[in-house]
Amino acid sequence: MESSSRALLLLVVAAAVAGLAAANFRDDCDIPWEPQNARFTSDGNGLTMSLVSNYSGCMLRTKKQFIYGTVSTLIQLVPGDSAGTVTTYYASSVGDNHDEIDFEFLGNETGQPYTFHTNVYTNGVGNKEMQFKPWFDPTAGYHNYTISWSPCMIIWYVDSVPIRVFRNYQASNGVAFPTSRPMYAYSSIWAAEDWATQGGRVKTDWSKAPFVASYDNIQLDICDCSGSGGGCGTGCQAYAGACQLSSAELGQMQWVQDNYRIYDYCVDYKRWTNGQKPVECNLPRY
Ligand SMILES: *[C@@H]1O[C@H](CO)[C@@H](O)[C@H](O)[C@H]1NC(C)=O
Ligand SMILES: *[C@@H]1O[C@H](CO)[C@@H](O)[C@H](O)[C@H]1NC(C)=O
Ligand SMILES: *[C@@H]1O[C@H](CO)[C@@H](O)[C@H](O)[C@H]1NC(C)=O
Repeated sequence: MESSSRALLLLVVAAAVAGLAAANFRDDCDIPWEPQNARFTSDGNGLTMSLVSNYSGCMLRTKKQFIYGTVSTLIQLVPGDSAGTVTTYYASSVGDNHDEIDFEFLGNETGQPYTFHTNVYTNGVGNKEMQFKPWFDPTAGYHNYTISWSPCMIIWYVDSVPIRVFRNYQASNGVAFPTSRPMYAYSSIWAAEDWATQGGRVKTDWSKAPFVASYDNIQLDICDCSGSGGGCGTGCQAYAGACQLSSAELGQMQWVQDNYRIYDYCVDYKRWTNGQKPVECNLPRY
């Protein structure tokens, strides 16, 4: 290998192992929908996003696109009555047949638990939902939500506890997995009273608007695809990380899965196509 390209490779690897880089909402993100409902706080290190009416929420999007990486932020979900509101936190490609990695926080009546919804779309196809109830009150303070996307697996973390893993079984078993389309990371708050809370039975009490989600400390450790040249190239493979959770993490995840998981598409046989369990559900899941 030519020495200059070896130096470049070392640089890419060094960047990949550097850990989560501090970022700033004002400098590193745009507000592409209803910017009047967003407020930067603490010099752009914090943010609030409000849902002010049925048709006026707010959306945040990173300026950079990436293939593989880890995105973390602290969020305090809407306090009090959040019925019919949905706060989302996800990574998604742009255009048709998109890839997407989702966290959605479905609001509830005062005193009733939020639902944490997760899903993965590849090539426009999702149907890989898993839901949890939180083991803490996510409206009483900030908690750390992380999406980690690597060539081996996608991991959803809450306060550094892995709650779900979706492994890459594309090459070995033909299970679609996002590997090639650059994604932006997003967060939004919007109205979904027709379905979000208790199946749509509980509507939003608009007299309580605005509904405000608060954010702090966004951290981006991503393989940037937005720079000159446009492509992330093979450097992004350096974002592989470990392909297996540590045994401590596996224990934590098992605790969440056993006690706080409220929905798993793998056991929802009514939704299986032709009575067949999805392929990945018969393989080691983490
Ligand atoms: C809010 O919007 C949804 C559709 O987007 C509609 O079905 C619902 O009736 C609206 N609610 C109010 C209070 O306007
Ligand atoms: C959030 O969790 C991630 C994943 O464990 C961690 O790397 C990051 O440092 C945490 N952020 C904060 C602000 O604690
Ligand atoms: C809201 O609370 C009810 C009652 O505790 C619960 O069944 C439901 O899963 C919670 N979440 C949503 C989004 O409705």
